[in-house]
Amino acid sequence: TNDRTPAEFVNNDQKPLGFGRMLRKEDRRFVRGKGTFCDDVQLPGMLHLAILRSPVAHARIAGIDISAAEAHPKVKAVVTGAMLAERNLAWMPTLSNDVQAVLATDKVRFQGQEVAFVVAEDRYAARDALELIDIDYDILDPVIDARTALSPGAPVIRTDVPGKENNHCFDWETGDAEETAAVFASAEVVVSEDMVYPRVHPAPLETCGAVADYDRVDGRLTLWSTTQAPHAHRTLYALVAGIPEHKIRVISPDIGGGFGGKVPIYPGYICAIVASTITGRPVKWMEDRSENLTSTGFARDYIMRGEIAANRDGRILAIRTNVLADHGAFNGVATPVKYPAGFFGVFTGSYDLQAAHCKMTAVYTNKAPGGVAYACSFRITEAVYLIERMVSRLADELDLDAAELRLKNLLRPQQFPYRTKTGWVYDSGDYEPTMRKAMELAGYAELRREQAGRRARGELMGIGISFFTEAVGAGPRKDMDILGLGMADGCELRVHPTGTAVVRLAVQTQGQGHETTFAQIIAEELGIPPDDVDVVHGDTDQTPFGLGTYGSRSTPVSGAAAALAARKVRDKARLIASAMLEVSATDLEWRKGAFHVAGDPSTSVTIQDIAMRAHGSGDLPDGVEGGLEAQVCYNPENLTYPHGAYICVVDIDPDTAQVKVRRFIAVDDCGTQINPMIIDGQVHGGLTDGVGMALMEMMAFDEDGNCLTGSLMDYLLPTALEVPDWETGYTVTPSPHHPLGAKGIGECATVGSPPAIVNAVIDALRPLGVHAIDMPLTPSRVWDAMRGVPRPP
Ligand code: CDP
Repeated sequence: TNDRTPAEFVNNDQKPLGFGRMLRKEDRRFVRGKGTFCDDVQLPGMLHLAILRSPVAHARIAGIDISAAEAHPKVKAVVTGAMLAERNLAWMPTLSNDVQAVLATDKVRFQGQEVAFVVAEDRYAARDALELIDIDYDILDPVIDARTALSPGAPVIRTDVPGKENNHCFDWETGDAEETAAVFASAEVVVSEDMVYPRVHPAPLETCGAVADYDRVDGRLTLWSTTQAPHAHRTLYALVAGIPEHKIRVISPDIGGGFGGKVPIYPGYICAIVASTITGRPVKWMEDRSENLTSTGFARDYIMRGEIAANRDGRILAIRTNVLADHGAFNGVATPVKYPAGFFGVFTGSYDLQAAHCKMTAVYTNKAPGGVAYACSFRITEAVYLIERMVSRLADELDLDAAELRLKNLLRPQQFPYRTKTGWVYDSGDYEPTMRKAMELAGYAELRREQAGRRARGELMGIGISFFTEAVGAGPRKDMDILGLGMADGCELRVHPTGTAVVRLAVQTQGQGHETTFAQIIAEELGIPPDDVDVVHGDTDQTPFGLGTYGSRSTPVSGAAAALAARKVRDKARLIASAMLEVSATDLEWRKGAFHVAGDPSTSVTIQDIAMRAHGSGDLPDGVEGGLEAQVCYNPENLTYPHGAYICVVDIDPDTAQVKVRRFIAVDDCGTQINPMIIDGQVHGGLTDGVGMALMEMMAFDEDGNCLTGSLMDYLLPTALEVPDWETGYTVTPSPHHPLGAKGIGECATVGSPPAIVNAVIDALRPLGVHAIDMPLTPSRVWDAMRGVPRPP
């Protein structure tokens, strides 16, 4: 490949490169099996914890008998909710101002809920002893279908909340209802559609787990845990467990995929901490796959009605939606406090509209808690699906080409910064070239000709389009906080005497390649080769405070912090260079990696020379302290708004209703690109996620609340066999407020691809009169749609 290794990332002409395709530094250890994941942590005397989970969705706990489990020879402790309640630890706050049971005390509220735990000498004994716990459940009627949650007489799930008489979770509204109604009333065309974004699961390769080590002598807790937000978790532990924050060290080691599912605090983490404090020994808890699927944060689960208003010529005027959100038994969403529905407000998409309105009601059901932002910036996936389905539906109704309709309505470059009708300010965008590039890569006109030919022969070929704008990089902190913690990120940069460096970040990679790209940012700004820059992250004792990695916020927030820290170091380096070259600082020019005297490139000092001087015994200019380091806490001015145009081509087998994604063209714009190879990888992964959600994935439940998808035999994930060779392309529209012009990319493809695939399948089935179909587009659903069978409720 053209991709260079980190060591090759220095030009011969002494111009070290920062940005560009570079193989990942971290892969040196991953491909050799040298990673350290939570389950690799082994401590002397370590015990093992297993959790007993509810077999039913809704029941009163009439009694618990733990005596037989306690008598097991290898068992060290058995703990129930009642015992936690004595320590005031039976309930914990969620990251969305709700509470969640750590261990059930009064009732169980979903199948898989944590009821008790066992600590034993080994993992097997702990599991065996779970079977010895005897629980007497009084079964209650469950609420499984969100549409019945607010019906009169529906069983009340959250009886723990004083005075609660229904299953209402929250209401939320955005946009202007009256203005939107007026535009709809005068519109020539109104199209509506009911759609379900089903409950799906982030399903990371590595399940959740923790190793807690509480030192009773000095009162220090060290917790290795699978968290995407180690600092925020530490603060929460201090508040919940009462251990002073400075005595808690959270280490998030190598993480095998997070996708938003490792942002919430799960009961297992608290159980491991409690277990270590009561046994005085280190305690490990690792979920199995089934526990991960059935009890950790799900995503989506929105039932939406969309309406779009337009003129006959295809000018889109307004969009309106009503959403019913299923939040499960506890509101376990991790979202900025002011945004209970996440960033769903961007459902106005990439179009110039006159009005928009959304009304949402969220309810509790007897299902696992969550609503996590699975590879998306807080509910943007649902928002993009809504608008992109509605625009294609409108094209269908008006018999217009779906690409032409989008081109007609996309925002124009001169409209940026653009304030949407729901109050979001898109920082920059140049949409038409992105759309045109996707059409060109696809050979769009030729594809449509091919489709016409195939249709004439009765073949089912579809072309689907989506154009999305994402909002990534939460804060700013004045608008965005998680449980009162402002969404800003720290960064510390230290250049050693010999000119190598270490950069310490508040964010934490879960596979996105931060050890490479953040070294490249420092390289770009300071001219230190990326291989000479170590990236430290995922350890609260070693890194500055920040809110963590999710919602593609690392590059927009911490990436900016890293660039600014490097610039601070450069400012200081300039002063030192001026002393070394005996010229005024203003007479110095910076050329990657060195200051030289203006007009005299041969008189220069490198950053490495300067680092040695900064730490050496020679004189420094007045007022300049020794050392070469800087610290920054970056509070973003705004979110960044990447965008993209996706075109999907599908073929449907008329005899089996199997959908084959034949081609997928993705043109993304994430502003300045740090490492195009990593960006390609992020897009490939996200597109694969999209195929999974569109065609295969759904957390399903029976009417009693039994989860039917508790294993990867039933919860289908895509493999290389289900996906085509991705065809990617890029445009570059820098963010005006990010110091590097970079926008996030991590989640764009997951967000943008499902509507393109669904639109393609519906396009293929159009000759059969199919205008709507809900994900996942399994063969049986497509088969039913082809035969006019009504959609499942
Ligand atoms: O927060 P998260 O790392 O998941 O998302 P991100 O900030 O979008 O970054 C994902 C990966 O792509 C990181 O390694 C970034 O540094 C890299 N990236 C890039 O090279 N250029 C960009 N403009 C955006 C991200």
